[in-house]
Amino acid sequence: MSDTTTVTGASAVNEADGTQTGGCSCSRRAFLQIAIATGVTLSAARADEPSPESSALPQAGDRLVFAEGDRSGSEIKPDDILLGVQQVMAWPLDPATRVVRSGSRLNEILLVRLEPDSLDDNTRPYAADGIVAYSAICKHAQCPVTGWNKEKQTLHCFCHASEYDPRKAAAVVFGPAPRPLPILPLKIVDGALTVAAPFRGKVGNRSV
Ligand code: FES
Repeated sequence: MSDTTTVTGASAVNEADGTQTGGCSCSRRAFLQIAIATGVTLSAARADEPSPESSALPQAGDRLVFAEGDRSGSEIKPDDILLGVQQVMAWPLDPATRVVRSGSRLNEILLVRLEPDSLDDNTRPYAADGIVAYSAICKHAQCPVTGWNKEKQTLHCFCHASEYDPRKAAAVVFGPAPRPLPILPLKIVDGALTVAAPFRGKVGNRSV
């Protein structure tokens, strides 16, 4: 029986049994090598893809970790969020699996601490000891909201200058953003900053 496989176009024809298996003009050995290499490449590509767990939106019970800086990946404690200063960027963490949900940029969160009495009625129920969390993805064109207007104490998006008031459920106070940032309810459990419920509203520039 011949071990030669002739491949034309997208199919390989085994001259011995006429079966078609795949794609180039080469020997069976070469074809197998290509198939193995292709499989390895596809496996590598799949390995680079974020897992469903890492892409899942923040869920009740998640903890929070620093998204950047020297402490990137370490868990955020309530005392790490200082009163009235620039937001801290964070990712949710599944405490059971220790998976950081950074597989989707839409999961990025910002945290600020404000005087609890300064929070309005739409914000206070979702804050924990004055700490409020919002989606960090701007509702205009999905840039990360990383700026802080110190005088006005507002969250600032550098892309087109939208500003959000973190005391008023991230109401838009300047710029083209069409809607507030979704708030992420928080609570403190055994001293740990913890997600109390999923985002209230859709993240990114999708409507509602
Ligand atoms: S993306 Fe934030 S203002 Fe345009």
